[in-house]
Amino acid sequence: MCGIVGAIAEKNIVPVLLDGLFCLEYRGYDSAGLVITNNGLQRLRTAGRVAELEKKVVEQKTNGFAGIAHTRWATHGEPSERNAHPHLSSAESKIAVVHNGIIENHEIMRKRLQVEGFRFDSDTDTEVIAHLIAFNLRKSDGLLRAVSLAISELQGAYAIAVMEENHPERIIVARNGAPLLLGLGEQGNYAASDASALLKTTRSMIYLEDGDIAELYKDRYAIFECRNGDLSQEIKRPVHHSDLTSDAIDMGPYAHFMQKEIFEQPSAVANTLEMVLNAQAILPGLFGSAAERIFSQTKGLLILACGTSYHAGLVARYWLETIAGLPCTVEIASEYRYRNPIADAHTLVVGISQSGETADTLAAMSYAKALGHLHSLAICNVAESALIRQTDLRFLTRAGPEIGVASTKAFTTQLASLLLLTIVLAKMRNKLSSEKETAVIAALRHLPAALQSTLQIEPEVQEWAQRFSEKRHALFLGRGVHYPIAMEGALKLKEISYIHAEAYASGELKHGPLALVDREMPVVAIAPNDQLLSKLKSNLQEVHARGGELYVFADADTQIEESNQLHVIRLAEHAGILSPILHTLPLQLLAYHVALVKGTDVDKPRNLAKAVTVE
Ligand code: F6R
Repeated sequence: MCGIVGAIAEKNIVPVLLDGLFCLEYRGYDSAGLVITNNGLQRLRTAGRVAELEKKVVEQKTNGFAGIAHTRWATHGEPSERNAHPHLSSAESKIAVVHNGIIENHEIMRKRLQVEGFRFDSDTDTEVIAHLIAFNLRKSDGLLRAVSLAISELQGAYAIAVMEENHPERIIVARNGAPLLLGLGEQGNYAASDASALLKTTRSMIYLEDGDIAELYKDRYAIFECRNGDLSQEIKRPVHHSDLTSDAIDMGPYAHFMQKEIFEQPSAVANTLEMVLNAQAILPGLFGSAAERIFSQTKGLLILACGTSYHAGLVARYWLETIAGLPCTVEIASEYRYRNPIADAHTLVVGISQSGETADTLAAMSYAKALGHLHSLAICNVAESALIRQTDLRFLTRAGPEIGVASTKAFTTQLASLLLLTIVLAKMRNKLSSEKETAVIAALRHLPAALQSTLQIEPEVQEWAQRFSEKRHALFLGRGVHYPIAMEGALKLKEISYIHAEAYASGELKHGPLALVDREMPVVAIAPNDQLLSKLKSNLQEVHARGGELYVFADADTQIEESNQLHVIRLAEHAGILSPILHTLPLQLLAYHVALVKGTDVDKPRNLAKAVTVE
């Protein structure tokens, strides 16, 4: 969480810092700040959004040739100006630090530094870093050395950018467990948490590795590896040309990024499936050159993910068991990493993540490897992410940047990718005939159009949203492969509209939650025309008979009719194995429109951030 930008150039860099922060607000948005050098270090901070910081910058006509900036998602210390970054330490030379991550040993360090005479002005773990660097500067020959000594004492994850008042011609950055890249410009050098923050300035990027520390000057840069406080000789890292366009992160004609991203799903899924839409067969090579060899040894799958990505894994489990005949376990990454699971060398570990930077997912993947799982696969939306770099196999969902905090197009593209994985594994295990494969390819070819026509139900959903917005709780029901879709619908509603929503496998209703049902508890049900339809209909009757109000998204041919207290929106005919993908869209639209009626901040819901890079 938190976003960092740094810039040093021959021109005023304040617009670069602010543009960068606006792009990074998805990572955290409860306070913001910057430090620039202009006759000493000048600091501006605000509680709240980057727009508040921008107002201050305009009022104070802030400008300078070097600076570091930050947008925060609070971990240690409430969201306030006092806890906003940059944090300063004023020993012999004033130091400014911005930080993304969590320093786990900050309490011990704080006590130690207080004994050394450092006074703390905030509740953050970051301030420890500033004082620790200042402390080390007393006994070392420059800021680079002082930073390397300081970080050798830090436990936890961090990406930091540091400036020193006495040497305004240089910025130092370092990373370990949190993303950070350098941007190389013709008239300056930059650093940021992700590429989107620098696109208006440069497309030449270097992705730093864990343990890297770099010095940036306006006309040069140098990267070193830092191990236990020792610096290596200067090292080279490859320079990438970012293909992201700034259009991809513009809102265009839409009111919110979430709305844009919901409506981008037909093209996002088409892009993700591009390699198979005109093919005759779905081949293992889609997942990497070693895929055929690894898949031929695969005896089962272990899927690790968080949040929405975890829901994608739950859907995939049904497909993998039913179509490929493979056992599959799906685990919440933050739980898996602290259990003592029994590893199996030939169970393929699959990490699913939009960002590829989710701390729990990364740690769970490493843990699975350490336990003895031989092979891993990433399903991820960010090509240069840590997850993509740490797995043997990878499949890039091509959803494009997802800016809205609530995940939408990442989820449906993950599902499309997981279906491809299922088909490949099923074929390799002789569980899928070539006729069936041809039928799946035809269905996938039709999927973007089917998604497009599903989006046409938006006006009907808008009507429901009005009624929903008055409720405080909601239940979501689904069965089989649509149960995880109900979970995803409940997650979407709660995170952006703040209505408490829970999902149940509808067979579970009478084992407890039915007690909650009354007129104040809307019950949303997903009703595809599959083999479980008659069972689902009985569950709906159970709700109806107890005065509950049902909102049903039903396939056209389900013969579920509107009646008093039973509202129905019809989707197209049953979409076969693709049905969960199509049934996701109405639930996204429902959450979006309820949030609109309630007037919440759709793209930046309270207390959340997009990339969860801390535990
Ligand atoms: C919900 C949402 C989160 C993420 C979760 C994992 O809308 O976006 O639940 O799905 O934080 O993030 P990734 O997929 O980046 O690992």
